[in-house]
Amino acid sequence: MLEIKNLKKTFNNGTQALDGVFLDVKEGEFVALLGPSGSGKTTLLRSINGLEKIDQGTILFDDDKIDNNSLSEVRKKTGMIFQEFNLINNLSAINNVLTGILNSETSIKSLFYFFTKDQKIQALKALDTVGLLNKAYDRVDQLSGGQRQRVGIARAIIKKPKLLLADEPVSSLDPKSAELILSLLKKINVEHKITIICNLHQIDLATKYSNRIIGLLDGKINFNEESKKINKKMIQSIYN
Ligand SMILES: Nc1ncnc2c1ncn2[C@@H]1O[C@H](COP(=O)(O)OP(=O)(O)OP(=O)(O)O)[C@@H](O)[C@H]1O
Ligand SMILES: [Mg+2]
Repeated sequence: MLEIKNLKKTFNNGTQALDGVFLDVKEGEFVALLGPSGSGKTTLLRSINGLEKIDQGTILFDDDKIDNNSLSEVRKKTGMIFQEFNLINNLSAINNVLTGILNSETSIKSLFYFFTKDQKIQALKALDTVGLLNKAYDRVDQLSGGQRQRVGIARAIIKKPKLLLADEPVSSLDPKSAELILSLLKKINVEHKITIICNLHQIDLATKYSNRIIGLLDGKINFNEESKKINKKMIQSIYN
């Protein structure tokens, strides 16, 4: 579903974040991206949903080239979750989830007035999927980190994306909550047939939950291997 060819990105300050990335992702895969800080993981994810403008190369999403013309279609098919959750603190869980169906043209006013009954049911279903139906009307700043990330996941899946991009979704969580979030992502991957690309710093979690691990170093792919075939040498090649 994704074909990335010779992707290059240099920021205005001269930093080359991506230096010729080639990557294919098939529908239904759970791909983990590993790499040291600064290796380009976030930039790669942001390039896929058009948050970062690329300099060179192409990204095909369902055989369509990602460019300005296709961007709104790509965003409809893509959900994103973040390390710091990026929720609106003074809103309830359900209202945060509902923001997942807003697009940039919709005014913030719709948040309070224009959601239909059907949309609210969809939001409650998404919260049920992440096991948080009982917290639907709690303000998210009163939830734990793990619960907040589950709201983040519900917000990402309410629009039924084909692809879910997760940028270090468990880096600010304790080990037990991290396991819970990854098993939830795995469940969504398998049961909802959503393809996942997930940036991680934890090798053990990547090995346990993904089908394939991509090792990124200095904006290039160092290895690309089935998770069960990953060995120490590969890991050392990116972390020295
Ligand atoms: N907006 C920006 N402007 C300039 N340089 C940037 C910008 N965003 C990222 N970079 C640089 O691009 C390189 C890749 O950054 P990126 O955030 O993709 O790395 P990362 O692998 O996600 O790192 P981390 O594990 O710390 O999140 C780094 O050298 C970074 O400093
Ligand atoms: Mg990053």
